[in-house]
Amino acid sequence: MTVERGTWRSKLGFILAASGSAIGLGNIVFFSANAYKFGAGAFYVPYFVALFVIGLPIMILELGLGRFTRRSLPESLRMIDGPRGEFAGWFGILNATIITMYYITILGWAVGMLVGSFSSLWQPSAVPAFGLDAGVLNNSMSYFFNMISEYNTIAFVALVWALNMVVVFWGTRSIEAVVKIFVPLMWVFMIVLILRGVTLPGGMQGVFLLFTPNFSVMSDPEVWQGAFSQMFFTLSLGFGIMTTYASYLPKDSDDVGNASSICFMNCSFEFIAGLAIFSLLFAFAIAPKASTLSMMFFVVPEGIAAFPFAVKLFGILFFVLLIMAGLTSSVSLVEALIAAVLDKFPHAGRKRVVALVAAIGMTGSIAFAWPMVIDKGLASDGTLGLSLLDMFDHWVFQYGLMICGLLECVLVGWVYDVDKVLAHINETSSIKLGGKFKVLIRYIVPAIIIFVIGWNLITQELMQGLYGTSFELSGANWLPWLVFAGWLGFALGGAFLLTRLTDTNSEGAA
Ligand code: PHE
Repeated sequence: MTVERGTWRSKLGFILAASGSAIGLGNIVFFSANAYKFGAGAFYVPYFVALFVIGLPIMILELGLGRFTRRSLPESLRMIDGPRGEFAGWFGILNATIITMYYITILGWAVGMLVGSFSSLWQPSAVPAFGLDAGVLNNSMSYFFNMISEYNTIAFVALVWALNMVVVFWGTRSIEAVVKIFVPLMWVFMIVLILRGVTLPGGMQGVFLLFTPNFSVMSDPEVWQGAFSQMFFTLSLGFGIMTTYASYLPKDSDDVGNASSICFMNCSFEFIAGLAIFSLLFAFAIAPKASTLSMMFFVVPEGIAAFPFAVKLFGILFFVLLIMAGLTSSVSLVEALIAAVLDKFPHAGRKRVVALVAAIGMTGSIAFAWPMVIDKGLASDGTLGLSLLDMFDHWVFQYGLMICGLLECVLVGWVYDVDKVLAHINETSSIKLGGKFKVLIRYIVPAIIIFVIGWNLITQELMQGLYGTSFELSGANWLPWLVFAGWLGFALGGAFLLTRLTDTNSEGAA
């Protein structure tokens, strides 16, 4: 049975939705954290190489797959390689589901910080978290750790889930309506923050630092690994998000043109976000810590708190910006899962699938928000939820994403006929792709991804032990192993089960 498939009302609606997915927390805070960690100006060269060698080709591939199969990832890969392809597709979707869960938890915390902005967050007298000595933590840090160790934070997470459900409820129609307001507004808010940042005394120095190339670090493979992972995450690649969104496009859409617009919008936003954050931090001589969440919840807020005036206003602006950008990304994750389930079980009906996805997803998000304090000294993550989040993020971000990207390239480049895919894409694209694209998909991208996976395996798991085993977990030393097994069980076991389930849509998939 084929069900009526949603379609975007306009090309603009699609571009806004796809760039809304791409522009998220990754652009506003994770990019700056990575850029700082990997030598600021030095990061741009690997970053642009990653954009053209990995980002753009995979974006074109994912858009092409969705557009001409008109299916989400598992079904579209099934058309290419039968059940093996479908399995790979579900593996991607289930990894994306884990990201959805913790991404929404992070957004819930951002809502908590926004609420705090109206009360005590920006006042200097916050009580130090966990009973640590005053002076160990700055104000936003104390506020953050106190907040995430309270049970009522779970309500914020539930609220963000409710918002996501409303936005995906009517599919493309409601998503399009929201992104048309949020995406332009995000640019406006970002520009206000940049203007504030660069006009601060000393702000321009941060900008210079961001653009002063430091070629010496470029021989470090870790910088390259960082740039490639950042590119996957920031462009929402690897999970079939873009495949799902493109499956709602008319058959004659221009993949190369669309991919270029999305990449351009995303990377320029990231670029200007870097200007805002670096200028703000350097104006106040704050050394940005490389951890991405600390950048979001206390490094940038510390900079804002030092503004000469309108601290509260800019603080609110910053958290509203994060929430808007995060929401247009999280709905794409939620929609990819809903579409995949609906493609496989068209009889289930959208409403029921939305409810099921929300129930499962919210359970996961609540686990990641679990406020139980397991590390009072804050030597690692503090709460159980944050530790779980940190460990799952490691597996999904460092490995899941990469493996999915690799599988897509291998399936299209080696198992299926890459010339056919190329012909499909060229048929409707304004810029025609040639042999270089084939070489990228068949050799270069897989080689890079294998390098990144191998690098992570060797430098973390082999040299330092399974991720998380060095954390302070007050007696729960088995937790990292449980998380590792949980990730494998959920993503691999789940993909196996879902592929095995009766395919109720077989004739509709032709
Ligand atoms: N691209 C989003 C960001 O930059 C995150 C994301 C990753 C969204 C993967 C969907 C899929 O924040």
